[in-house]
Amino acid sequence: MTAPLRATAVTHPNIALSKYWGKRDVVENTPAVPSLSVTLSGFETTTTVSFEPGRGQDEFVLGGRPGPGSLRITSVLDKVRAASGMVHRALVTSENNFPTASGLASSASGFAALALAAVHAAGLDWDLARTSALARSGSASAARSMFGGYVELPAEGLSAAPFAAPDVLPLSVLVAVVTEDAKDRGSTDAMKETMQRSPYYDAWLRMAPRVHASLKRALLAGDFDQVGALTEESTWAMHASAMAAGIVYVRETSLAVIREVKRLEHGVAFFTMDAGPHVKVFARPEHAQSVAERLERVPGVLRVHRLTIGSGARLV
Ligand code: DP6
Repeated sequence: MTAPLRATAVTHPNIALSKYWGKRDVVENTPAVPSLSVTLSGFETTTTVSFEPGRGQDEFVLGGRPGPGSLRITSVLDKVRAASGMVHRALVTSENNFPTASGLASSASGFAALALAAVHAAGLDWDLARTSALARSGSASAARSMFGGYVELPAEGLSAAPFAAPDVLPLSVLVAVVTEDAKDRGSTDAMKETMQRSPYYDAWLRMAPRVHASLKRALLAGDFDQVGALTEESTWAMHASAMAAGIVYVRETSLAVIREVKRLEHGVAFFTMDAGPHVKVFARPEHAQSVAERLERVPGVLRVHRLTIGSGARLV
């Protein structure tokens, strides 16, 4: 296969129901615990990789401006160059159609799009599993954005894999944005701190696989209540382990949103939070409208994004 040198990929962010937190191998960026996520629709990242003969260094442009995180990006591109034998440096341009302050991990959709575009631009004939493993080396949650619907990233493996179609449990996803200033501790650094300092990290390592296994069973059974209970259990355990190392993502308004979710009638919605202050609420589709309106009325909530379950990465 000759290398087209240039390719564009479109990907979506994902939200974990059972969380990845902590690394088995920091250099390889492999997760210490299994995780299961849902890929979103609505929000997307579009990334073009152009390998350019004669270019002196890799360059990353995000939303028209010089982008951050070039070391991890270069390392993904280096892996593609090593596998393909191509030596050119690349211009990487990326756009998100969603605000970064929405707290939806742009590194997940970002590294998934980077990996898929780079693999194709370099003419590598890799399947999605191998491309997912490449995305994981940049950001582990990105491995999951390669696929649509419900997606699993096992702790033992190197790549994510599709776990179930969206119709096993149709969900609406409501993202309650609680601040414009979402400059929290990044997940990579916060995980490292948790691993080094948290007295609860070992407890997290013990409970996460158990919650994950139960969550998979509940999901396949289409058991909304059980999926909700386990997602919230994973959320609190992850945040408790981080908090014991001094990393606090929950803010007053996050708690107010969570209290509002808890006030809803049983079986209507459940919540999760990631490495930021916004609250992600999963609702049964028929209740999405009324739940979104209630969340919008919580003092401090700036807006509520309404999303659904989406598809995996694609080339354009
Ligand atoms: C809380 O994938 O951003 O969102 O591998 O260091 O890039 P790195 O971390 P990242 O961590 C995501 C953590 C999380 C939970 C999850 O998505 O599973």
